[in-house]
Amino acid sequence: MADLEGSGVFIRPAREDDCAAMAAVYAPYVLETDVSWESAPPDAAEMARRLREHAAQGFAWLVAERRGEVLGYAYAGRFGERPGFDWDAELSVYVAPDSRRCGAGSALYAALLACLRRQGYVNAYALVTSPNPGSEAFHTNLGFRRAALLPGAGRKFGRWVGLAYYHVPLAPLADELPRPRPMSPADAAEYLHRRRLDGTPRAVLGTKRLELREMTQADFPALCDVLCDNAVMTAYGGAFDRAMVQDWLNRQCIRYDRDGFGLWLAVEKSTGRPAGQIGVTIQSWPGHGDVFETGWLLSADMQHRGFATEGGRACIRYIRETLGAQHAYAIIRDTNLPSQRVALRLGMAARGRFTKHYRGEEMPHIVFST
Ligand SMILES: CC(C)(COP(=O)(O)OP(=O)(O)OC[C@H]1O[C@@H](n2cnc3c(N)ncnc32)[C@H](O)[C@@H]1OP(=O)(O)O)[C@@H](O)C(=O)NCCC(=O)NCCS
Repeated sequence: MADLEGSGVFIRPAREDDCAAMAAVYAPYVLETDVSWESAPPDAAEMARRLREHAAQGFAWLVAERRGEVLGYAYAGRFGERPGFDWDAELSVYVAPDSRRCGAGSALYAALLACLRRQGYVNAYALVTSPNPGSEAFHTNLGFRRAALLPGAGRKFGRWVGLAYYHVPLAPLADELPRPRPMSPADAAEYLHRRRLDGTPRAVLGTKRLELREMTQADFPALCDVLCDNAVMTAYGGAFDRAMVQDWLNRQCIRYDRDGFGLWLAVEKSTGRPAGQIGVTIQSWPGHGDVFETGWLLSADMQHRGFATEGGRACIRYIRETLGAQHAYAIIRDTNLPSQRVALRLGMAARGRFTKHYRGEEMPHIVFST
């Protein structure tokens, strides 16, 4: 997520008294562009009616605000009316023309997608005019994939324009999935604050040189830098593609909600640059049960600087003090010698071995623990 701390941007559920400001954000896109296919901009009263309609359907509608000024807004709604579409949401986002490229759009989407994931939605779609290079780049950057293009689907200002369907999966397509739950504005505000998505990103853990914080959809590019690099991913059977990165991100977000922890984004304090991921997950040690594992995965240019050891030490403390467990574990592929050295440096010792079946390969692993 963009570092909103310094920028003073705050994300919160929209209120009726935001409707005039939201109408003002939207109007230029209706009047001057083919981004919106409406021809007359809605006034504040019509915006309020739409806001109430979305709230009644249990969808979040969020604004990005700075010093009391609404910079933009984003909302989710049903993708299709029939029950088969119950797990799908359609997104819309508008940032005032002079407030673009300051991270407001990404922060709105990060918060909105977290709400939808929390509610149990599986697919998020954005319908984007094509061509609209800005919005297409924005969605691609955030991990969306163009799933379909309907050429000449619409007409505005006497020109035919296409409609691109952008898609991001929020959870695996499991056989048994409960219907998504509605989320009220009060629930959304509480959830965004708890998950640190309201514009004040806070670290879960800090070390001398690193901050460890929860990842959001806005961290998709940073995650690609690590997971799509063959050199970093040797122990995982090679570089991930974008779909695998999204799956990985979804799994961490689901962990944050379910367990209260997961792999966090490690950010170098002095530069604000993502260094990789370090965190705590629950892993199964066959024959022994579930254990708290501390894991680390650093981008190539952040390796050999002691970050894994530094972050790993903070995670061991978290496992002991916050989770109240006696032992912290690290389950490491037998060929991954650098990672094994980190475990030894953290005072861990090898306790056993087992083979993981991952990406079609048999991968022997060594179980280290404190
Ligand atoms: C699309 C839109 C919401 C993006 O909001 P934003 O606040 O400007 O986006 P962000 O600052 O979070 O941008 C995040 C990243 O997306 C990409 N991006 C966003 N706008 C872009 C543009 N015009 N050109 C190229 N890349 C762009 C960049 O990678 C950017 O990161 P960077 O600024 O560090 O390079 C905004 O431009 C907008 O409101 N457009 C008109 C409405 C619209 O098209 N809505 C989508 C229809 S559903």
